[in-house]
Amino acid sequence: MPAFSRSEIVAALSHALDLTEGQVEGHAGRTCVLGMRLAEDLGVAPADRAALYYAVLLKDSGCSSSAARMSQIFGADDLALKRAGKLVDWTRPSAALRYVAGSLVEAGGLLNARHTLRVALEFARDEVVVDARCERGAQIVAQLGFPPSAADTVRCLDEHWDGKGRPRRLSGEEIPPLARIACLSQTAEVFVTSLGRDAARRMVRKRRGRWFSPEVADAFLAIPDADPIWEHLAEAHDPGVVARMEPDPEHEEAHDGHLDRIAEAFAQVIDAKSSYTFNHSTAVAEYAVAIGRALGEDDAGLLALRRAGLLHDIGKLGVSSAILDKAGRLTDEEFAQVRMHARFTEEILGRISLLAEIAPAAASHHERIDGGGYHRGLRGDAIPQGGRILAVADVFDALTADRPYRAGMPIADALAIMRSDRGTAFWPPALDALCDIAHGLPPRGEPAGASPIPRTAAA
Ligand SMILES: [Fe+2]
Ligand SMILES: [Fe+2]
Repeated sequence: MPAFSRSEIVAALSHALDLTEGQVEGHAGRTCVLGMRLAEDLGVAPADRAALYYAVLLKDSGCSSSAARMSQIFGADDLALKRAGKLVDWTRPSAALRYVAGSLVEAGGLLNARHTLRVALEFARDEVVVDARCERGAQIVAQLGFPPSAADTVRCLDEHWDGKGRPRRLSGEEIPPLARIACLSQTAEVFVTSLGRDAARRMVRKRRGRWFSPEVADAFLAIPDADPIWEHLAEAHDPGVVARMEPDPEHEEAHDGHLDRIAEAFAQVIDAKSSYTFNHSTAVAEYAVAIGRALGEDDAGLLALRRAGLLHDIGKLGVSSAILDKAGRLTDEEFAQVRMHARFTEEILGRISLLAEIAPAAASHHERIDGGGYHRGLRGDAIPQGGRILAVADVFDALTADRPYRAGMPIADALAIMRSDRGTAFWPPALDALCDIAHGLPPRGEPAGASPIPRTAAA
């Protein structure tokens, strides 16, 4: 298998993270362009710039963990909440309260001072929301094999110069230098994109010495109007442009094993998006491979099935957790949004050259043999075989996995239900294969490394 560019795949997947933050697509890429420029102006060494590069692209890997909790607290769409929240100065109680009140009104609630205050306090104290992004994001970056300074940058990018940031309230020189750059870059990007560069400069001037290191703030304020960076920012929605900016060629080359690690890490990001899908993507990958093996797939086919299983629900990052976690019946409009996740999966994976070949199968996991599924309504053999296998694996896991509100169904009961849809929803060969092997499957949620699924030796 040929080597590939790790920056290409990370830059492309950062678009999926933009979705889950409710940001204009390319937010992470533009933050990266800005961060690279400030790092250069501040004389940061190439190896450290590379750590900053990956940290900024992956900075929101922990965000899906906070999405479910945020929509629970506010009873509203987490994507809109996060989008609006990026323009707010949290350290000012009046601004934070205005944001909470505005979000409640937008969610259709009546404005009530006591309720607003309660939500604001609950939000301010909620450690899941506050810590998940930083800690979880740092863990994912470390798991991907990036240097400790990259993980540390993600952990500390919401720390503020005056010690009022999060999660550890570090101040001044205690904050790692790369995190100081990342902190300014991510906020300035949102202002430049939403309100223009003058508004961004006003914000940076106001928060200089409070949120931002004076040195980093001054470097940003020194960038003149005529500087090419502003045009460069406008091009950064294209992951190819961002991928080519990797500052340290030593990190450029990657191998097939890296791709597996990235897929495994993103499976965790995807599963954290909803409180009900713990380990779902990993389990679907395991089941799909087991079915594929029973059907005689070769190693290359099994590897593709595994990756498609790990990433089949990546499009869920673009759907609000308020809908994914809704306890009651979905309205038609909400169901239409849920169905969109399969299309998003195809779009996200289709853009990444090394994953494009698995995109059609991954995006077909809700198609039915009788043509009544989504997102294309394909029928029979028109559904890629990988998609027909994933559809069986997906439903089997949904029925048998333990959920917060109920225990998983016994395997025999799940198979009985699925058999009643043999040939209508499910492709008979895949369903029959599952029925043959289901009772011998390894326990759900075993770490991928312990599974017999083929992975390339290169790491
Ligand atoms: Fe799905
Ligand atoms: Fe799924």
